[in-house]
Amino acid sequence: MRNVTKDNITDVFTGYFGEDTDPRVKEVLGALARHLHDFAREVNLTHEEWHKGLEFLEWAGKITTPERNEFVLLSDVLGLSSLVDMLHSTPEATSSSVLGPFHVSNPPALEIGGDMRRDFGGQVLLAKGQIKGTDGQPIPGAQIDIWQTAPNGLYSSQDPNQDIHSFHGLMTTDDQGRYAFTTVRPVSYTVPSDGPVGEILNAAGRHPWRPSHLHYIVSADGYRNLVTEVFPDDDPYLDQDTVFGVRDDLVMSYVTQQAATFPDGFALSGKVDEPYLKVEFDLVLAKD
Ligand code: BEZ
Ligand code: FE
Repeated sequence: MRNVTKDNITDVFTGYFGEDTDPRVKEVLGALARHLHDFAREVNLTHEEWHKGLEFLEWAGKITTPERNEFVLLSDVLGLSSLVDMLHSTPEATSSSVLGPFHVSNPPALEIGGDMRRDFGGQVLLAKGQIKGTDGQPIPGAQIDIWQTAPNGLYSSQDPNQDIHSFHGLMTTDDQGRYAFTTVRPVSYTVPSDGPVGEILNAAGRHPWRPSHLHYIVSADGYRNLVTEVFPDDDPYLDQDTVFGVRDDLVMSYVTQQAATFPDGFALSGKVDEPYLKVEFDLVLAKD
């Protein structure tokens, strides 16, 4: 390995795996080296730029905590998280979309017809739909883990004034695969931009906004877990989501309803005396 040159270093790298190296490790690491080397050759990467990149990674490591993972955020704003999602989605099923860092474990149970608003003000939103397989059959007993921002644009884990389960709930579908809950309309918000990823956004002339959304993780025996989001069709950031999470089939209308027709069987039945919004969002799961 004495005659390493800028032109043969990639071949030297890929020829230097141990005999027992796992074939998938060889494939992934080999391709990573090939693309990294090609990238450095293509842009004629300078020492200064290379060093800046390493400092960036060091800063991302320092700022990362269990509540805030700057590497995941980097993957999100570079479009890598969404690309990995799309590489493994099933065309007949509902599109998946980014998980983001604000999901919490052990969300509180939410009855069908339950309310996630607690004491928060804001326009009531009724969200309902059905969970089905790609064959169109409803899936009873599916679990839907739901979360969103409070009206102040903050998730519970970002906001000392909310308890950790605020705007989180876990619902089980009924015998026809249906779910329904009330909440307040989620708002558009910015991803954390006071760290290294914020510098990248600035340098690229991009803002840190995401269109408002409800997050869902749907799981059911015999089906692939679905991590996704639903977006209102009138959000100003729909076409400029900083983490590239919007897909056509995830954009729904929030339709204004008169309070007089607020349905029975809901925690808020009889308590809403102003027009409210309704979004109907069916989710289709692929078989395992
Ligand atoms: C979110 O939707 O919660 C999110 C996704 C990616 C990065 C930051 C937040
Ligand atoms: Fe979110």
